[in-house]
Parts: sequence; C-alpha cells; structure tokens
Amino acid sequence: LPIAFDAIATGETSMYPLPDGMFAPQNQWYVAALSSEVTRQPMERWILNEPVALYRKTDGSAVAMQGRCPHRHFPLGKSNVVGDNIECGYHGLQFRPDGSGDSSPAQKTVPASCRVKVFPLVERWKWLWIWPGNPALADPSLIPDHDEFGLLNGSFVLCGDIAYNEVPARYMLIHDNLFDLTHLNVLHRNSIGGGNLAETKEQRNLTENRLTSHRHFRDLAPPPFMGPVLGYNGLCDRDMKITFCFPGLHYFFDTYSKASGEPGGGEHLGAIMGFHCVTPATHHTSHYFAALLRDFARDDAALGQHIASGLAPTLQEDIFATGEIEKTASRLSRLPAEILLNSDTTCGLGRRMFAQAIGKEMAV
Ligand code: FES
Ligand SMILES: [Fe+2]
Repeated sequence: LPIAFDAIATGETSMYPLPDGMFAPQNQWYVAALSSEVTRQPMERWILNEPVALYRKTDGSAVAMQGRCPHRHFPLGKSNVVGDNIECGYHGLQFRPDGSGDSSPAQKTVPASCRVKVFPLVERWKWLWIWPGNPALADPSLIPDHDEFGLLNGSFVLCGDIAYNEVPARYMLIHDNLFDLTHLNVLHRNSIGGGNLAETKEQRNLTENRLTSHRHFRDLAPPPFMGPVLGYNGLCDRDMKITFCFPGLHYFFDTYSKASGEPGGGEHLGAIMGFHCVTPATHHTSHYFAALLRDFARDDAALGQHIASGLAPTLQEDIFATGEIEKTASRLSRLPAEILLNSDTTCGLGRRMFAQAIGKEMAV
C-alpha cells in the first residue's frame, strides 16, 4: 500500500493526509450542487480542480458541462443560456447540452474539435451527483442508496435548509474531521459535546465502500444544546453511529433515550440524522453540504429551524479547524510526519480507502 497504514498499530508516523502526488479519485460520484442551486442561469463550480458549468434545460433537467470555453477559456458558468445551449459570454460560441459546438451569430460554422466535455449528472433527493471521470464508467447504481438512509420513508424530516459551504481546506481534512469524533468534546464542547468519546469503545465496520464507526454512551447528561431541544434534562443514553459511503458522503444517527435508571428508562427521546457530503473543489478547497433531519416534533418547523440555526456554529467550528490546518499545511513546503493516536484508527482506514482508489487510477 502506498500509505503507511501499518504505522497505526505500531505508533509510527505517516505522511499526512495523503501521500505526495495523490489528489482524488476521479471515477466516482460526488455531490456537485443542491438541486435548488441549479437554475436556468448557469453557475460555476470547481470539481476535482476543473471548472464545471451547471444549468437547467427548458425541460428542467440539469446539465454539467466543462466550465471553460475551448476558445479562450472564458468561464461558461458565467455565460448565458440560450434555449438548451450555453452561449459563451466572451465571443458567443454556443455549445449544445451534448457538448458539441453549435452555430451562433458570432460563428456560422464551428469546427468539430470545438466541443466541451459533458459530465454524467444524476438528480437524487435534493442534490445533484456528478461523475468527474470517464463517462463510460458512470453507473448510477453506484450512487449511495438514499433508501438506505431512510431519506425517503418520511420518518425523518429536514431541519431548516441544507447548508452549503465552500471550505478553504483540502477535502481529506474534512473527512478526517468526520472520521475522528473525539474532537466533539473539545472543538464542540459547548454544543454537541458530551460523553467521553476518547474513552468510549469505538466499534468499526469496514466493507469495500462503507466505513462505520459506532459508540454507545450510558447515563449521560444531555449535551448542552440537545437537552432543551429534547425537552429532557435527566440522564440519557446516547447512541452515535456514523457511516462513510466512499468517497463523498457521511451519514450519522445521534440517538437519545432515557437512561435505564430514570423514570421511563429506555424510552426513545429523539434522534438527529445528518448527511455531510464532501466534494474536492481544488487541491486546497472543498464543497461541503450538510443536512440535518429529526425524527421528533416533525410538524414543528420552528423547532427544526431552531435546531438548524443552533447547530450551524458547530459546522463553522469544523470549517475553522480544517481551514486553519490547511493554512499550515499549504504554507509549509512539506508537512512534518503525523503523530498517530489511538483515536486515529478510523482515519487510517478511511484514508486507506482513498489511497487505494487513487493508486489504482494512477496505475492505469
Ligand atoms: S472565449 Fe468563448 S467564444 Fe471566445
Ligand atoms: Fe465537528
């Protein structure tokens, strides 16, 4: 393996966060945008270090096109839609949704070589999945199954809007943040911290493209933000399970019940489900989509909004931490070797998934 994964067992060090020269796997599905972001007005979004133009055709279906005009590299995401075509905002070349050049007032005949790449794009639930790699390999059945998350069965409802942030950090730092939840007690001590994560046994399950981390806490005071939200201040049990679907989506369940020694012990108090989608934008920036859902007070939209806005600072704390690490990592010509702690085992497993997939693509 190109990554020094065995170091985890021996306490040695390895390169952080990925071996030099490795960026991101190309032949994968990633969330490109929220459905609500993509309209008839084209937008630009960098995905795996390439500009992409996203827009909708007259029939409402979405298109993801190379976001750079082949003539002078003007951004097509900052151009105009004419019918189903994009018209370059510089000299007016038009491109059809299949990427071929079309005639336009500026250019009556268009050379066949004047075309742009079109990316496979699939709309699922409230977001759009893009395949940045070889289109011939894009199989929509590889998109994480939204039924698996219970998104479609109605038992959970959204809290407020799905958050989108462009994060000034390489994507692997955001995954690391989600793989190692021991940061909850420190970085998020005033909101969702609670229970000693570092000392609670973490159970892991790794399959080919899923990595699950599971912890169960007993007899815990509810975290500062959750007590009032659940309307409960006795001791509780908390079950925290987070599953990573390679390469871009984490979903978690944070479930609270009354502690067994309390009146009504074992009673379900409520669960928060979350989706965090991470897409590499450039070598040093990422797209971060975060949705929160709840299975309690489902008709109470105001409570949903309260949860969304109450937990928004938590996301900003993660963005702050990863952004600061990126600053350090990108200013140093080479990042000193990493110190691996016991809590880094999940990070090691997760990073190995990336290193293997990238290594395989680099070998072709
Ligand atoms: S740059 Fe697009 S037509 Fe010239
Ligand atoms: Fe966090």
